[in-house]
Amino acid sequence: MNDLALFGGTPVRTEPFTSWPRFSSSIGDNVINSLKTGQWGIGSPAIAEFEQQFAKFQDAKYCISTNSGTTALWVALKAAGVKAGDEVILPAYTFIATASAVLMANAVPVFADAELETFNMDPEQIEDLITEKTKVIMPVHIAGSPADITQINAIAAKHGLAVVEDAAQAHGAEYNGRKVGAQGIGGIFSFQTSKNMSAGEGGAIVTNDDDYNDACFSYHNCGRVRGGRWYEHQHLGGNFRLSALAAAMLLGQLEIINGEMDIRDRNRARLDDAIGQIPGLIPLAQYPETSRVSNHLYLLRYQAEEFHDIPREQFFKAMQAEGVFTYAGYVPLYKEKLFITNPAEYPWLRDRDYQNLNRPVTEELCNRQAVWLKQNHLLGSDEDIQDIIDAFVKVTDEMRRNPQRFG
Ligand SMILES: Cc1ncc(COP(=O)(O)O)c(C=O)c1O
Repeated sequence: MNDLALFGGTPVRTEPFTSWPRFSSSIGDNVINSLKTGQWGIGSPAIAEFEQQFAKFQDAKYCISTNSGTTALWVALKAAGVKAGDEVILPAYTFIATASAVLMANAVPVFADAELETFNMDPEQIEDLITEKTKVIMPVHIAGSPADITQINAIAAKHGLAVVEDAAQAHGAEYNGRKVGAQGIGGIFSFQTSKNMSAGEGGAIVTNDDDYNDACFSYHNCGRVRGGRWYEHQHLGGNFRLSALAAAMLLGQLEIINGEMDIRDRNRARLDDAIGQIPGLIPLAQYPETSRVSNHLYLLRYQAEEFHDIPREQFFKAMQAEGVFTYAGYVPLYKEKLFITNPAEYPWLRDRDYQNLNRPVTEELCNRQAVWLKQNHLLGSDEDIQDIIDAFVKVTDEMRRNPQRFG
């Protein structure tokens, strides 16, 4: 095999991977047709149809579409009864929006650690974090791999708490043979540009609960109530509604998402197979109840001790030189500057000491082990996937054989 590209050899590939998001004629036709109706916002048939079809796709009774995943999270938390000063338990290993939506509801984020094998919230930690102020447990289906919903729902039921799923990355993922999102009181999705379904921006909440659906409607629509007058506002809500053009784009994507999911499934299985055979690289584990993952990102663990303690960042550099971009992903959320408590801006966090919080598995994943590949790689051809595998093998072989070169 030729030398690593990092040391002057020929890279495995120089071509870019599949671009994302992808245009399809169904998306284009839907947008044009929607424009022609002259109904571009509230009341548009495209929005109603999208909500109905997305609810069906996610095995839920109802869907309320929103203009982002972040606003969907805020609406979902308010509809679950979160009030100022309440606590919400969420993973420390997630995107900032999961926590910022809690703050936006004047509530307190309480961070649970991750599980090393799944990167998901560790259910064993949740009970220790419950206080009389806890209102909601909010698992995140990280990278589209369902969290341990059975255990989380059982804990929530025991303590009288609501479960709101952050399924922003988990379109089409299944747990126990049912799509995620409505396995607790409700769950949210994001259609931001990098997601497996995208309208550039957008979001949705799904639920099976009639009252919860009505509450979400109200919070996402300026506090209006169904059947109420236009100028009648019963809650502090906002205009968090999806536009008709975004709904039309998403309807076009619902026509192709099953095919794309099949491609991602197939590619992920190949990667799991090949990477699982490389000592020191460990693909993400799933729970026995997980029936399907959405493969939003491809995540794995890098064990430096198997590579003579060469730090992960050297591995990233060598992979990048081979033409395959891998990266570290999240930092522990409580380490974000936002959580270095600012009593003037967030007085209800005054007594929280996020700076000295330590969630050891989250820190281990963020600082040493997590390796991410972007979702567009999972939509690639057989040759693309072979290139990724070849790069993993080429780089790790050399690291094992000649560690002094990475010093
Ligand atoms: C886990 C998670 N939650 C929430 C969000 C927020 O979604 P949005 O960017 O649409 O506001 C995202 C994605 O961006 C996410 O990855």
